[in-house]
Amino acid sequence: MSDGPLFALHGGDISLVIEAVIGAVPRIVYLGERLSSDTNLQQVQTLTQAQSAMGGPDVAWYPSLSCEAGLGLNVSPGLVVQRGGKDWGAVLRVAAKVGFSEHLTASDGSLKVICEDSYVQLRAAYNFHLSPSGVIRTNMQVTNPGRDPLTLDYAASAVLPLSENLTEMIRFSGRWAGEFQMHRHAIEGGYIAENRRGRTSHDRFPALVFAAPETREQSGPCLGLHLAWSGNSVVRVEAQNDGQALAQMGAGLFGEARILAQGETFETPDMLFAYSAAGLNGLSQAFHNFYHDDVRSDRAKGPRPIHCNTWEAMYFDQTPDKVLAMARAAADVGVERFVLDDGWFKGRRSDKAGLGDWSVDKGIYPDGLGPIIDEVKALGMDFGLWVEPEMVNADSDLYRAHPDWVLSAPHVDQVPFRNQMVLDLTRDDVSDYLFKCIDDLLTEYDIAYLKWDMNRDLNHAGGRDGRIVQHEQTLAVYALLARVRAAHPHVEIETCASGGGRADYGILAHTDRVWTSDSNDALDRQMIQRGASMFFPLSILGAHVGPATCHITGRKASMGLRAATAMFGAMGVEANLLEMDAGELATLKAGFDLFKAHRGLLHDGRFVRVDRPAHENVVGVVARDKGEALFSYVLMRSMPDRLPGRLRFVGLDTTRDYRVRCVWPHDVKTPYPHVLERGDLVRDGVVASGDALMKVGLQLPQVFPETALVFHFQATR
Ligand code: GLA
Repeated sequence: MSDGPLFALHGGDISLVIEAVIGAVPRIVYLGERLSSDTNLQQVQTLTQAQSAMGGPDVAWYPSLSCEAGLGLNVSPGLVVQRGGKDWGAVLRVAAKVGFSEHLTASDGSLKVICEDSYVQLRAAYNFHLSPSGVIRTNMQVTNPGRDPLTLDYAASAVLPLSENLTEMIRFSGRWAGEFQMHRHAIEGGYIAENRRGRTSHDRFPALVFAAPETREQSGPCLGLHLAWSGNSVVRVEAQNDGQALAQMGAGLFGEARILAQGETFETPDMLFAYSAAGLNGLSQAFHNFYHDDVRSDRAKGPRPIHCNTWEAMYFDQTPDKVLAMARAAADVGVERFVLDDGWFKGRRSDKAGLGDWSVDKGIYPDGLGPIIDEVKALGMDFGLWVEPEMVNADSDLYRAHPDWVLSAPHVDQVPFRNQMVLDLTRDDVSDYLFKCIDDLLTEYDIAYLKWDMNRDLNHAGGRDGRIVQHEQTLAVYALLARVRAAHPHVEIETCASGGGRADYGILAHTDRVWTSDSNDALDRQMIQRGASMFFPLSILGAHVGPATCHITGRKASMGLRAATAMFGAMGVEANLLEMDAGELATLKAGFDLFKAHRGLLHDGRFVRVDRPAHENVVGVVARDKGEALFSYVLMRSMPDRLPGRLRFVGLDTTRDYRVRCVWPHDVKTPYPHVLERGDLVRDGVVASGDALMKVGLQLPQVFPETALVFHFQATR
């Protein structure tokens, strides 16, 4: 909607109002809770006049779309450019030379603002696209119209003003096998996170949520930001002492300045943002809807198949007999896709050798993978394969032939990292080689899915000519994925980087599933998946039932807890089925059956997290028509001080009755006779109104710690 030089995007819970007067610096006048679409934008502008502060400049300041250096603001610029140390002070004004309509257009939820600085010789286009989910996608293009090359050191995808009620932030930290850890605290001055790992990273997932102190899962305002980028990143929050606060995200070019020749353009990755007036859940639902409507490919629209992955079952110790025995056991419990993980290719008997040589190891599989795949298919499953194309071991034919193909700095040693080095994908010969390897495999074999792994940081991302090519490498990875996709459109690809080290909406444009974490520890997974669900839907979050004793944490978990945890994701199993006893296998099969019965609901319904004390985790999915729901309650550890109270559910229809049954596990182990038995909750269920279930709640049984209960709700009217 346009009102003179004021332009507004209204959708979902969000409104974005931009002032773009020809010849003036554009700015965001309003970003926050959705305004009524007939709001007079002039009034909004009047309300948002800034106040100058004593002890500061004599005039009030406004953040522009880039907070570029020429404005002289005391904030971190969202654009840093220069020509030989000069021309650093750009001021980007809405361009006036050509017709207005060509410079600023708002149509179908899209807005493009074109600006220039004719003195510094710089042009910029800011793009905003509002999707029906309420998520706004934004990026920036910087062009050098000048004759002399322009050095671009940094360009934020966006710099956003934060409304003053959002005084707290949630940020994400993590580690290998412990991704998506959320931390909530006051903004207080500011925050900066630079990710220099060359992949999205385990520890600096590029996302932030801003919230009011009263914001909870179901209520209160919040704004969520995410950078759709799989390389280095900059995330910055600055609260000024005059009350204004800004947040920006951009690709981190650290030492890799872009030199733009005349006419050349640098385009930033997209940043995504959404607002919710109804708590953190509202934000997640906007992002989940965005994924399903705008990102998900046709390939991934059907039911997500149950995986069996060989990694934790056999690691590098593969033999055809073992693999086939596992495949048969997997089919018996209802697995739908059998995935041969690391260890199948030439020379790969440990993580010390083989990467780069993407042909089947004839020592292990003398007849190739054909017989394995045939049997897997005959068992009614499809077949998936693990690859890690970007990497090479020194002990490989590829490295022996092309030691110059790796990213490096010539005068320093490689940082040792899982015995592997990173191939320079910005070289055509390298990318062509990798494409051919993958293309050959996908052409020769009936492969439905690739697990595309990436198991080290980029520590010295020097290219052939000595320049840093980290940013280009990320683009080259996308290009290789796109090329594979185009040649094999039906093959699904999962993004993995030692678990969830490359999970972001940049890579999701090319992939269909995320390996959320290498930790299959069910308790750790409860919180990892809770954090990941802030921005990603359950349908793409790979979640496997691991062995009874977790290989990474050494903790034991019941099959009941393991299966209930994996069910709230893209379910699978990654444990030696041949070592499980009959009881464990039967429970696993029952878990898969339950998942299959409710897969449509779990993956297409509305996902909710419920506010509970820290020793519990409760999540659920409510059908879009609210006719059905599934909730999981987990007692993570002993109750610290008091017995569990009632669980008040969320998202149900207040006007309908529901039959509630505890559908998991089938044998709840409790120290005392419990309410589930007394009320017949397990067998027949109880009927109560949605209103009562949400306001009164259901008394929880006193269960042993580390127990998961799953409740099913079916509307009876
Ligand atoms: C990474 C992945 C694992 C597994 C191994 C194989 O760590 O995250 O799931 O595939 O590599 O080497």
